[in-house]
Amino acid sequence: MKNNSYFPLKFENDYLIFIDQTKLPLQENYISTDDYNRIAEAIERLEIRGAPLIGIAAAYACALAFKNKNEKDDNYFNKVYNRLASTRPTAVNLFYALKEIEKVYSSIDDINIYEYLLLTAHKIFSDEEKFSEKIAKNGLNIFLKRSNVLTHCNTGALATAGFGTAFAIVKNAFDHQLINHVYVDETRPLLQGLRLTAFELEKNEIPFTVQTDSSAAVLMQEGKIDLVITGADRIALNGDSANKIGTYNLAILCNFHNIPFYIAAPSTTIDRTIATGAEIAIEFRSSKELLFVGDKQIGKESYHCFCPAFDVTPSHLIRGIITEEGVFSFPYNFIR
Ligand code: MRU
Repeated sequence: MKNNSYFPLKFENDYLIFIDQTKLPLQENYISTDDYNRIAEAIERLEIRGAPLIGIAAAYACALAFKNKNEKDDNYFNKVYNRLASTRPTAVNLFYALKEIEKVYSSIDDINIYEYLLLTAHKIFSDEEKFSEKIAKNGLNIFLKRSNVLTHCNTGALATAGFGTAFAIVKNAFDHQLINHVYVDETRPLLQGLRLTAFELEKNEIPFTVQTDSSAAVLMQEGKIDLVITGADRIALNGDSANKIGTYNLAILCNFHNIPFYIAAPSTTIDRTIATGAEIAIEFRSSKELLFVGDKQIGKESYHCFCPAFDVTPSHLIRGIITEEGVFSFPYNFIR
């Protein structure tokens, strides 16, 4: 697959350069920093977002925290680790990456801490790139014909390394003439579908339509959707999957209309410490994200708002989970 003209982040000359996703699609602004706290803020503000990308960014942040330090300092390491771990609770990739960094930090002596942590961050990045490529290949197996696909949130190059998860499947399927049209949920309240997935589909010249989240049912009723593919932020051992709020609605709609509902995610999104989705910590975000569209206030600040960033789709509603290892189907059992 041809490389994109944009990138979510890259490491160059001892700085992390990332695209500010809050400004897309209208502005393509890149920010350069070597400050781990600035990277933590970027994750909190969703300048950097998407489960695998959060993990990659956190790993680079830990490395950069040691750029000018020549000796180990456990208190400082714990401070950096905890700052990054506190940014977003749901995507398990963040904690996977931090644990990989911690393992390396604990195993090395005083010298070259920065170089070792950096190598670990580079490896996490390149592993995710390889997983994305394999997910894209495995995902071809779910297409029985040239299809109309609906997706939710953003799962493309902006959310991972490589071409993404669900998005990488769509792109690969399109390249194999298996995609007719892509329907993109706008993804309220932060509009990752309207702003980011539409941006990526346009850049990749894949035909698409954006609709309000509440239009998915009518599209299905009219027979316009052949399958739905989304990403995930954390998958329990039984296959219950947390993803952007609204994903559970889609899974119910798919089951009602007998449309296959698939999740695509790398194995780094599987949390092997939890049996079911009941144990997934769901992030709640500020009511401002509901009351404002961009900078424009549309609701009164006195309104009580319900603002979960994610929901959990029970595994029996998921036709298949596509990882770099293959396509799994219900009943899921990810214990190894
Ligand atoms: O709040 P976000 O934008 O970080 O949420 C992202 C999602 O829910 C994605 O669907 C998920 O991380 C999968 S990305 C490969």
